[in-house]
Amino acid sequence: MNILLTGGAGYIGSHTAVVLSQAGHEVVLLDNFCNSQKSVLGRLQKILDKVLPCVEADVRDTALVAKTLQDYKIDAVIHFAGLKAVGESVEKPIEYYANNVQGTISLLEAMKSANVKTLVFSSSATVYGNPQYLPIDENHPISATNAYGRSKLHIEEMLKDIAISNSEWKIICLRYFNPVGAHESGLIGEDPNGLPNNLMPCIAHVAVGKFPYLKIYGNDYPTIDGTGVRDYIHVMDLADGHLAALAYVRNHKGWVAVNIGTGHGASVLDIISTYEFVSGQEIIFQIEGRRNGDIASCYAKVDKARNLLGWQAKYNLEKMCSSSWLWQNFSNKA
Ligand code: NAD
Ligand code: WQD
Repeated sequence: MNILLTGGAGYIGSHTAVVLSQAGHEVVLLDNFCNSQKSVLGRLQKILDKVLPCVEADVRDTALVAKTLQDYKIDAVIHFAGLKAVGESVEKPIEYYANNVQGTISLLEAMKSANVKTLVFSSSATVYGNPQYLPIDENHPISATNAYGRSKLHIEEMLKDIAISNSEWKIICLRYFNPVGAHESGLIGEDPNGLPNNLMPCIAHVAVGKFPYLKIYGNDYPTIDGTGVRDYIHVMDLADGHLAALAYVRNHKGWVAVNIGTGHGASVLDIISTYEFVSGQEIIFQIEGRRNGDIASCYAKVDKARNLLGWQAKYNLEKMCSSSWLWQNFSNKA
């Protein structure tokens, strides 16, 4: 298939580009590089031994997106493009709705005009809000506590309406849990502009001495060791999940949402000790107060992904941490 990856130069998009291209798909990237570097294109070329076409554009440029869909005879779109920092979304809701919601509307208009009706959308476990039960299945009530999460909710609902309006649409929303790690080459990984605030990149910063210590946000949660528990998933597993989702959605009309996680929770202290083990570095930490808006535990029920997509995660915490460490060392030198 010919597949357009909006936000394809970003963290998850670049890893998915590798998997799709290696599986024989023709991949085209579209990105405005607001949270990624153009150097990722050269690194993708090194991994794949081929150049992936990349259109530098904002997804809100409907005409250019429509032209791209036509020029490359695109069969399906994976829509990664968007802003994703929860804290920033609370301060800049207009930017978040404009980029995420308006960006998706623009893409849908372009897809409609080019008659491309197959879409994989990057949703998030954040749409489950504060979990009412664990593990979280796809029927768990959805809600949002911040503008980022609400933008994902609005998009999911909008996509549902579009699938209802015309039965030609084939739409799958993948609700990612906590993506971490990097490609085994160490050439691509999570490379956000500005300082990280997610756990794994913060630990990586401590490991290489960029941060003096890790702040642990709370050790008084009702969890195994008092620290927050999450369903961390290796980004290469997540990339494989997109391959499986495409294979499924191309043959299934309508709208569906599927969790993409491992089904297992790990605490902050679990991640620290695994990172210390694989890197040989001591991760100095300090216990701080709880972070605003954080929840105690969140992990997925993954049966739907297994049954519908025939996909399940295969990498463990050691692989997640060792690939992050490899990437951290590469990006430190690059
Ligand atoms: P990322 O920031 O690394 O990648 C997003 C890419 O989209 C970047 O390259 C950025 O430059 C581009 N982009 C942003 N706005 C754009 C626009 N208007 N037009 C064109 N390009 C634009 O983020 P990521 O971690 O790869 O996340 C990809 C998607 O997955 C996002 O939609 C995000 O909300 C979702 N998601 C991410 C996580 C996570 O923890 N990383 C978890 C759940 C869901
Ligand atoms: C994980 C755990 C923290 C940093 C966020 C978004 C979510 C999704 C993924 C996009 C928590 C603790 C963290 C640190 C710490 N993104 N922590 N010290 O909060 O589960 O999810 O990213 O959709 O929407 O909210 O991920 O990596 O920030 O935190 O102790 O310096 O690590 O308290 O328990 P989170 P995270």
